[in-house]
This record gives sequence, structure tokens and C-alpha cells, in this order.
Amino acid sequence: MKKVAVLTSGGDAPGMNAAIRALTRTCLNLGMDVYGVENGYLGLYNNNIFQLKSRDVSDIINRGGTFLKTARFADFMKDEVCQHAALNLLNQDIEYLVVIGGEGSYKGAQRISKFGIKVICIPATIDNDVQSTKLAVGHDSATNTVVEAIDRIKDNSSSHSRCSIIEVMGRNCGEIALRSGIASGVEEVFIDKDSVDLDKICSIVEARKISNHNNTLFVMVENICDIIELAQQIEERTNVETRSTILGYIQRGGSPSALDRYLASEFGSYAGRLIAAGKYNLAIGSNGIDFYDTALDEALILEIHDVTEMLKLSDYLK
Ligand code: F6P
Repeated sequence: MKKVAVLTSGGDAPGMNAAIRALTRTCLNLGMDVYGVENGYLGLYNNNIFQLKSRDVSDIINRGGTFLKTARFADFMKDEVCQHAALNLLNQDIEYLVVIGGEGSYKGAQRISKFGIKVICIPATIDNDVQSTKLAVGHDSATNTVVEAIDRIKDNSSSHSRCSIIEVMGRNCGEIALRSGIASGVEEVFIDKDSVDLDKICSIVEARKISNHNNTLFVMVENICDIIELAQQIEERTNVETRSTILGYIQRGGSPSALDRYLASEFGSYAGRLIAAGKYNLAIGSNGIDFYDTALDEALILEIHDVTEMLKLSDYLK
């Protein structure tokens, strides 16, 4: 009988639980044994591995976070650490490992595959920066959270005739910023350092003041500028009251959207069926309609997502 372990790794993302549930139930229904690993690769190294039955994954499809917990464990890149973790699985005759996470987690999977573990990767990250899929689990939920937050900030901006800058997560990827900015109708979305031009920003704020608009909103991806300082500069230059809001970790929590629950269910089930068919060292992906898999080694060298069309759309809507 095949034995399959599953872990979640890196930053948590809404929908991870739904993926664990779908994988567990599909594998059990196809006659395999399933094991959960607590705390990602750290738990694998510490041998925190326990059997999962169907009831263990009841009532989690709607819950944010990950009931298996997660961790960032940089030491996993060391050969001796990774090999020790692989032996924890092999000593219990567990040959397969399903990794639910983002690019960093995929790299961990690639490493442990060199020590005899058969891996399948399911994309789950709010940033949507996994190249081998158009959509990762968690991105839609996080984007919805951001849109809701921007709508609220817009109410505040309108009441006070303010300019507001909203910083969103994404690490080096502007997809949450672009999708949420487009979906909330903000004035401008900034996804790289070079595009943050104070003169241009102030001229937008001033033009809106002159045309009697009672709010001006900008969305920025994290790590490109200090939005607190930027807000002060805008206020000084334009005389328009300006506030900054860093949305932070609220983007990572909350009940997953219907799309994320659905994606996660398809991904988890697809992974189970790949294993039943004896396939491994694959990364699963989807464009929201079709589901496919890519060799893990190839998945890790693909180009980053092209956001040119999203940028153009944002421009057309100004
Ligand atoms: O990858 C998800 C993410 O939330 C990024 O958007 C952000 O840069 C990072 O994780 C924050 O990481 P941590 O949870 O370690 O603070």
C-alpha cells in the first residue's frame, strides 16, 4: 500500500486546509495511507508525522490558516538536514510527499527528492509568484481581503477629502497590488521602485483636487518605498491630507474564497490521482479552468508571470 505524507510550508495562505482535505480524502479513497506533517519541513526534520483519517480533515474546508501549521526553515537547504528528514519518511515506508506552498517550498521539495522521496507540489501562496501555475491557492482570498479593505479606506478618504496610500503584500510580485487596485478602481498601482515618482503622484492628487474629486487612492506593493514618508511628502507638496495604511497580515488570514476552496480541492485531488498513477516530482498548476502538471525541475526555472496585460488594463481604466 502506498503511503503519502503532506505538509504545508512557508507563508500560510487561505485554502491550504481545503487542499490537505482534498488530498487526504482522494488518497484514502484510492486505497492509500495518509500522514500529516506538522510545521512544514521543520516538523519533517523533527519527525512530527502522524496518520490522517477522513474525519481528521472534516470541517476545515472553510478555515483559513493551516491546521498542519507551517514554518520557514532555512536549514533545510543543508544536505545533512534534508537527508535526515527524508530518512524520517523512508523509515516509516512513506515514499511520497505532497508539499503545499510557494517557490521556496518547491525548492525544498526538489532537494528532498534527491534523497529518494517522490514529491508533488501544490501551489499555495497569497503572492501568486509560483511560475508553473497561473493561479495559486490563497491569492484570490487575499485579493478579496485587500479589495474589502480598500473599499473601507475609500469611504474614509471620501469623508475627509483625503489621499490614501495602501501598501499590500506580495514580496517581489505585484499581482495582489494590480488585481486589487484594478478591482477597487484606485488611481494608480505601483509595483516597482522606478515607477514611484513623487512629481507624478502629486500631479494626480492636485488634478483630482481641482476637479473636485473627494478622494485619491494609490496601491503599492511592499518593499518598494516607505509609504509613511511618501504620505508626508504628498501632504506637504499638495496640501491634501494624506494617510498611509499598511495592510499587513490580515491578507494572510480569513476564510478562503469559493475560488480558492475550489482550486485547492482540484489541486489536492489531482495530486492524489497522480500518486495513484505512480507519477512524481511534479508541480501542479492551473489557469483557473484547466489543471496540469510540470516536471518540478522545469517548474523552478520558468520565467516569472508576465503582468504587462494587467498593467495595460490599469492604464486603460484611468
Ligand atoms: O509570501 C507571503 C508573504 O506574506 C509575503 O507577501 C510577505 O513578503 C512575506 O510572506 C512575509 O513573511 P513572514 O510571514 O515571514 O513575515
